[in-house]
Amino acid sequence: MHLHHLLFAFLFSSIQCAPLSSPSSDLLRSLNLTVDELGATVFALLYGTPLMDFYQLAEGTLTTVGSNVLGHKNATATASTHNVVRPNVDTIYGSATYDLSATDLVLVLPPMDEDRFYLFAIYDPYGDNFASIGSVPASAPGKYLIRSLESNCDDDCEGYEGCITSPTPIGTILVRIEVKNNSTDVAEVNSYFSKVSLTSINPRIPSFPALTLADFDNLSNNTAVSTLELTARLESRSPPETAHFQAAVPPILALAGITNGHYKKPASVNLTRASELVNASVAAFTNTPGSYPDLGNGWSILNNSYSGTFESGTAIIPRTLIAIALYLQNKATNALYPTLGSTQLSLTDSEAYLFTFSGKPPVAADGFWSLTMYDDTGYLVPNALDTYAVGDRSNITYPSGDLVYADGAKDGSFQVLVQDVNVAPPSNWTANWLPAPSGGGSFTVTFRLYAPEAAASNGSYVYPVVTKGDAITA
Ligand SMILES: *[C@@H]1O[C@H](CO)[C@@H](O)[C@H](O)[C@H]1NC(C)=O
Ligand SMILES: *[C@@H]1O[C@H](CO)[C@@H](O)[C@H](O)[C@H]1NC(C)=O
Ligand SMILES: *[C@@H]1O[C@H](CO)[C@@H](O)[C@H](O)[C@H]1NC(C)=O
Ligand SMILES: *[C@@H]1O[C@H](CO)[C@@H](O)[C@H](O)[C@H]1NC(C)=O
Ligand SMILES: *[C@@H]1O[C@H](CO)[C@@H](O)[C@H](O)[C@H]1NC(C)=O
Ligand SMILES: *[C@@H]1O[C@H](CO)[C@@H](O)[C@H](O)[C@H]1NC(C)=O
Ligand SMILES: *[C@@H]1O[C@H](CO)[C@@H](O)[C@H](O)[C@H]1NC(C)=O
Ligand SMILES: *[C@@H]1O[C@H](CO)[C@@H](O)[C@H](O)[C@H]1NC(C)=O
Ligand SMILES: *[C@@H]1O[C@H](CO)[C@@H](O)[C@H](O)[C@H]1NC(C)=O
Ligand SMILES: *[C@@H]1O[C@H](CO)[C@@H](O)[C@H](O)[C@H]1NC(C)=O
Ligand SMILES: *[C@@H]1O[C@H](CO)[C@@H](O)[C@H](O)[C@H]1NC(C)=O
Ligand SMILES: *[C@@H]1O[C@H](CO)[C@@H](O)[C@H](O)[C@H]1NC(C)=O
Repeated sequence: MHLHHLLFAFLFSSIQCAPLSSPSSDLLRSLNLTVDELGATVFALLYGTPLMDFYQLAEGTLTTVGSNVLGHKNATATASTHNVVRPNVDTIYGSATYDLSATDLVLVLPPMDEDRFYLFAIYDPYGDNFASIGSVPASAPGKYLIRSLESNCDDDCEGYEGCITSPTPIGTILVRIEVKNNSTDVAEVNSYFSKVSLTSINPRIPSFPALTLADFDNLSNNTAVSTLELTARLESRSPPETAHFQAAVPPILALAGITNGHYKKPASVNLTRASELVNASVAAFTNTPGSYPDLGNGWSILNNSYSGTFESGTAIIPRTLIAIALYLQNKATNALYPTLGSTQLSLTDSEAYLFTFSGKPPVAADGFWSLTMYDDTGYLVPNALDTYAVGDRSNITYPSGDLVYADGAKDGSFQVLVQDVNVAPPSNWTANWLPAPSGGGSFTVTFRLYAPEAAASNGSYVYPVVTKGDAITA
């Protein structure tokens, strides 16, 4: 009996300590995680966090239109837009959740005018922008085939402008089309959307279960548990992209309690501790020199090598960080999002920030830039002027009163005033005024540069100097 007990203890501990295959343990060690159930759980949480964002989006589209249908808005966001956080007011959005389990897709891109930014960005469920059709560089109008690795269409892409193979059978297409003005151009953009189509072809017997709302049923109300449940449910439809990860990841997920589409927490694992370690990993990455290169004057930017792209899914921690901060980020060639060291700004109603630009932000002719104000919940700030953003399409002026964007040639310094929505500045500031939430408090300002030129990130453009001073009143 004693012996039996000992033997049992020995067997039990040898199962507990059973070494993972070396690709798996090397992967855990490379992320400074312990080679045990706790380390595997931390890995699984880092790995699966973006899937929670995918779920939020996919649940919405599956509920309203279903998969493989491209829906679109018909106007830019306003202060009453509360379904997304920090929406831009520069573009009209469209989106689709795609599911290639039983079909390929054909996307039709209509001809667009030359100086307009547009982007059909295609993402795997982890937020990796593995392919794009858009204005940077200009894609030819016409038909594009989107297919999965299992597609039966082989390499026969004749008749298509391009052929896109999705590394995962499910994912997201996110469309942005620039709006140049709120008068006739909104209708113009809507007419482009009406000419875009997404249709199914090459039906086949599904090699994967289709994505359905049942995939999101009964998820736990505990974020860590639901992340792991979702990782389990989507595992077969969100496989790793590289051979190395295909060998290394499944055994780690299994050690974390993820098998056959289900999650069961190993008894030894404390999920609160695991979540703390996830946060510590993300914080350590954020603080690593080179993760957020400095742009000068207090501005920095996520390293371009992680912007919207994660080295074929192997840059796990940046991928988690982006899922938390800005899921479905663009690649640096399409958009830059420089941030101020302290992204939360705050004012009292007698104070103001001045953003002193050295000159026009360097974007291509078909690009644009904007500074957009968000309250502390990430929503646009209601104001009588409906000014949620200032940028290249607003009537900002130089101190002389001349329009900054009256003609392409002139360049020089100009200022944007960030001041309480109820504290109106003198009239010559109206067009340069970005109204901040009333009564002070904290807020964020997002700087976007779409179709950026090299000067925007190679150190040659001098970023705006941001200073706090007294409110400017008549
Ligand atoms: C792991 O820890 C080492 C030493 O503290 C550190 O240099 C390295 O950046 C860490 N790696 C990760 C992925 O956190
Ligand atoms: C835009 O869509 C909304 C519903 O989302 C609808 O109420 C509105 O009439 C539409 N506007 C135009 C101009 O089509
Ligand atoms: C269009 O109007 C919205 C307010 O409804 C504003 O935020 C946005 O900046 C305007 N866009 C242009 C290009 O003028
Ligand atoms: C709005 O944009 C359209 C291009 O779609 C342009 O033709 C028109 O002149 C612009 N209107 C204003 C008031 O800027
Ligand atoms: C979710 O729970 C309900 C009620 O317990 C059950 O009927 C349903 O089958 C569950 N769905 C899934 C996908 O497990
Ligand atoms: C989560 O909470 C909601 C409401 O608080 C409840 O209806 C639902 O059953 C809970 N889900 C689970 C899986 O416990
Ligand atoms: C789980 O971890 C948390 C955070 O480290 C700790 O506060 C808590 O006491 C742990 N719970 C158990 C049952 O050990
Ligand atoms: C981890 O960080 C998130 C914010 O990103 C926070 O909501 C959560 O409480 C943190 N978890 C733990 C266990 O510290
Ligand atoms: C961006 O990250 C890469 C890979 O870690 C590194 O080689 C490069 O130096 C970083 N860039 C900057 C500007 O720090
Ligand atoms: C800029 O001024 C023109 C002419 O007064 C006006 O039509 C247009 O709506 C203004 N644009 C914005 C964004 O306020
Ligand atoms: C408004 O006029 C004042 C006084 O002439 C000047 O200092 C300021 O730069 C002007 N602001 C803008 C945006 O033109
Ligand atoms: C940065 O890019 C601009 C083009 O946008 C180029 O003119 C300039 O020489 C570059 N500067 C450096 C330091 O590479």
